[in-house]
Amino acid sequence: MNELDGVVQTVQNTAHYVNTHLADHAGSGPGTNPSGEDQIKADIWADHLFFDKLSALECVGAYASEEREDVVDCGDGYSIAIDPLDGSSNLASNNSVGTIVGVYDAELPASGRELVASLMVLYGPYTTMAVAREDREVVQEFLLRDGFSEQWGTFTIPDEPTVIGLAGKTSERTDTFNALARELEHDLKLRYGGATVADLAQVLEYGGLFGYPATTSNPEGKLRVHFESAPLAYLIEAGGGGSTDGQQSLLDVDPDGLHARTPTFLGNEELVERVESALSE
Ligand code: AHG
Ligand code: MN
Ligand code: MN
Repeated sequence: MNELDGVVQTVQNTAHYVNTHLADHAGSGPGTNPSGEDQIKADIWADHLFFDKLSALECVGAYASEEREDVVDCGDGYSIAIDPLDGSSNLASNNSVGTIVGVYDAELPASGRELVASLMVLYGPYTTMAVAREDREVVQEFLLRDGFSEQWGTFTIPDEPTVIGLAGKTSERTDTFNALARELEHDLKLRYGGATVADLAQVLEYGGLFGYPATTSNPEGKLRVHFESAPLAYLIEAGGGGSTDGQQSLLDVDPDGLHARTPTFLGNEELVERVESALSE
């Protein structure tokens, strides 16, 4: 087992535990996270679980989480950047949530070019985990079950895009962006559920585009570079798709702080290029 196998195994086991015990931690709790958003008990619970297991690994030197202000030093090794529960506001309506884990071979802040692996867990009717690693040619997908997991398949984004999910109220987006959204939504089926992981899973399966643009309430977009945008860009680019902040690959975004945000678009190359050309006008 190499070091990345150890990280994958640990995320897999912890995610299975999260999946089976999530209901015990339902209900809202006090507080806000470092991005100023409401935290619920499950966010904090999941963060502690992943921290305990990942920080104990010999190969992990730092742990950073959407739920913590600062990086926690754990020795020498990879820096983990994690969104322990992505889309946690979906829990109130019992819809899908996920976990995103970026493994950086650098101190944070760092750009996505320093990623050596990215993992995305989706807690849906089944719990699945997609994994992209520098030492693998393919994006693997695992089905997590009690006590073991099995490889379910590999992800390659389909050539023909089918679905689209764009965040933000039209009243809070630019006219240019709304014009592009109208064009794209004319030909693609709407799929927006409010958890990036779940929405991206549809794009990976059916082809299409997921986007969280700049809005008046979130001028830099809502998604965070280290914890969401860059790891998911690493994953989709490894699966044959593309990513952009409107101008460049999300892997090239240079975050100016641990909780920096960026407009985020992930999907088929041709759609990513349409976003870039529309937003450059
Ligand atoms: P988190 O729960 O980790 O803070 O992430 C929330 C993010 C993301 O996953 C989702 O795509 C987006 O917020 C939903 O935002 P809206 O409620 O604005 O649609
Ligand atoms: Mn999130
Ligand atoms: Mn979260």
